[in-house]
Amino acid sequence: MLLDTFGRQAVDLRVSLTDRCNLRCTYCMPEEGLQWLAKPDLLTDEEIVRLVGIAVRDLGVREVRFTGGEPLLRPGLVGVVAACAELDPRPELSLTTNGIGLARTADALRAAGLDRINVSLDTLDPETFFTLTRRRRHHDVLEGLAAAEAAGLAPVKLNAVLMRGVNDHEAGDLLAWCVERGYELRFIEQMPLDAQHGWDRTRMVTAEEILALLQKRFTLTPEATAARGAAPAERWLVDGGPARVGVIASVTRPFCRACDRTRLTADGQIRDCLFATTETDLRTALRSGASDAELGELWRKAMWGKKAGGGIDDPQFHQPERPMSAIGG
Ligand code: GTP
Ligand code: 5AD
Ligand code: SF4
Repeated sequence: MLLDTFGRQAVDLRVSLTDRCNLRCTYCMPEEGLQWLAKPDLLTDEEIVRLVGIAVRDLGVREVRFTGGEPLLRPGLVGVVAACAELDPRPELSLTTNGIGLARTADALRAAGLDRINVSLDTLDPETFFTLTRRRRHHDVLEGLAAAEAAGLAPVKLNAVLMRGVNDHEAGDLLAWCVERGYELRFIEQMPLDAQHGWDRTRMVTAEEILALLQKRFTLTPEATAARGAAPAERWLVDGGPARVGVIASVTRPFCRACDRTRLTADGQIRDCLFATTETDLRTALRSGASDAELGELWRKAMWGKKAGGGIDDPQFHQPERPMSAIGG
């Protein structure tokens, strides 16, 4: 098991498959992109499947989420999903994507064994999409969403980050749009994980503001707290349900106490927290011939030292060196 000194058990593994992305969201990376990881440093598909296998067989991991950068840019994605679906015990498999290219791959992903999908979409307006992402790909995301739904990847969840003066006026429209289609929308507070280090607490749209914006148009009833488990999102029933909306308030209402996550980066490093400033190098051990038992032991050690929380409220808070796009959200 992946236990830490606070008694938490990591049963949810987030695997970043690439640090590359085909969008340039302003809250994430600069226009010119970043210095991408070099190919030889990336885990191969086989190495990823071996590590996921160790996690589910020996370490108690039950859910595996593939993230990026943009995971659909990884050529071997469908094969990795298929191989992970063959593992025993079979983990629940999900994907977090910006949706570009999903129209082409949704059916293959479903057939390979993908269970669920979360798609990022911050706006319904193509021009605002361009302002936020610096790319004219709004239509591709909408097509991707439709394809995911048609492929039976249910429930489809949407993630939206609100930026003051850019898309915050769209909160209600986004929710109405999702309710109509049966998608579960979650708003995420902007976190200090951008490569440019431009995050500003005073500019961030807070959970409280998001709820106030939504309550102008909808009646929100809090979902029973027991239903939340370790999920980052707090949820509300919309107009009596069954539609729901979530808010991921990582900054103003951190949920670290129930955290059940461990992370593997595309270059084979274990992170015990989204905000961790240190990592454990599994890739070197793996490529030096370590056995499954040795790799499992390294992973256990990596998680044992997990801190009580990410510490955004700590005056000593230091943003991790790796940006969100290279951690995997
Ligand atoms: P499900 O609820 O199982 O669908 O997954 P999820 O919400 O964890 O997945 P997703 O990849 O869509 O994550 C949405 C956002 O939640 C991420 O981008 C992060 O902003 C936030 N998040 C996920 N895990 C953590 C975490 O461990 N700490 C913090 N602070 N935020 C997290
Ligand atoms: N703060 C909050 N959310 C972010 N995301 C990317 N960067 C940030 C940030 N700095 C979101 C993406 C995606 C999810 C995986 O993380 O929009 O929905
Ligand atoms: Fe878990 Fe760290 Fe996220 Fe808190 S900040 S929920 S401890 S990963």
